[in-house]
Amino acid sequence: MDLYGIIGNPLTHSFSPRFFTDKFLKEEIDAQYVKFEISDISRFADVIKDNPILNGLNVTIPYKEAIISFLDDLDSQAKEIGAINVIKFIRENGKLRLIGYNSDIIGFQNSIAPLLNRDIHKKALVLGTGGASKAVAKALENLGVAFTFVSRTAKPGQLVYKNLCEDIIRENSVIINTSPLGTFPNIDECADIPYQFLTPNHLLYDLVYNPAETKFLRLGKEQGATVKNGEEMLVLQALAAWEIWNK
Ligand SMILES: NC(=O)c1ccc[n+]([C@@H]2O[C@H](COP(=O)([O-])OP(=O)(O)OC[C@H]3O[C@@H](n4cnc5c(N)ncnc54)[C@H](OP(=O)(O)O)[C@@H]3O)[C@@H](O)[C@H]2O)c1
Repeated sequence: MDLYGIIGNPLTHSFSPRFFTDKFLKEEIDAQYVKFEISDISRFADVIKDNPILNGLNVTIPYKEAIISFLDDLDSQAKEIGAINVIKFIRENGKLRLIGYNSDIIGFQNSIAPLLNRDIHKKALVLGTGGASKAVAKALENLGVAFTFVSRTAKPGQLVYKNLCEDIIRENSVIINTSPLGTFPNIDECADIPYQFLTPNHLLYDLVYNPAETKFLRLGKEQGATVKNGEEMLVLQALAAWEIWNK
């Protein structure tokens, strides 16, 4: 039997254990997916030592950056953004090598790509500047869509919410929410953007997937915008992890 798992803390609401356990059952894959809820990243060494048959790991909050110093190498895109969520295990000549990847980049990229109209969707606003925003930014770069971060805090080269006038909203026809605003139970929250300037040319993508229609997406839809939540990204990043482990 093969063993896969996830490290993070807390892991109570984590998607990957359910996803992979269902996948293994449905596809009759002889594997198990286990949760390693570790209180400190220094416990990672014990996870590796105590589970010599591990084939791959997911990494989630709060360890996506801290884990890097425990790995032997990083995929080039993961290195650029400084965050990983997948560890590939390579065993060669009795030695174990751990390589870090970021499948959020692939998940977001593959999810938004079919919605992009190259004539219209040339510039994007990325709302929020946390870990997920870095994967989104790298995917947009890969797709050739120019982007600007929007933050609550003024920083060079970025916008703050009160800068978002009609011209900026019209110019940036892709708007991606990478903040946790609107996540259940806080479903009445949404990013503070002037929704009245959105048009049917706009594409609004919300990384949040619970609820399926966040207030951000509902207000966009009311203006005729195309909207998409983060559920597909979640599935696509998990499938990308599976490929990374097994390629
Ligand atoms: N669908 C998927 O596959 C997927 C994958 C990864 C993450 N996610 C979701 O994406 C969201 C962000 O994840 P993350 O790890 O990047 O989280 P994070 O680091 O906690 O937050 C992201 C950023 O959102 C902004 N933000 C936080 N609280 C805010 C508030 N009250 N008002 C306005 N802006 C706020 C902050 O940027 P500023 O300080 O610059 O404003 C923060 O850096 C989470 O909801 C997560 O579940 C989904």
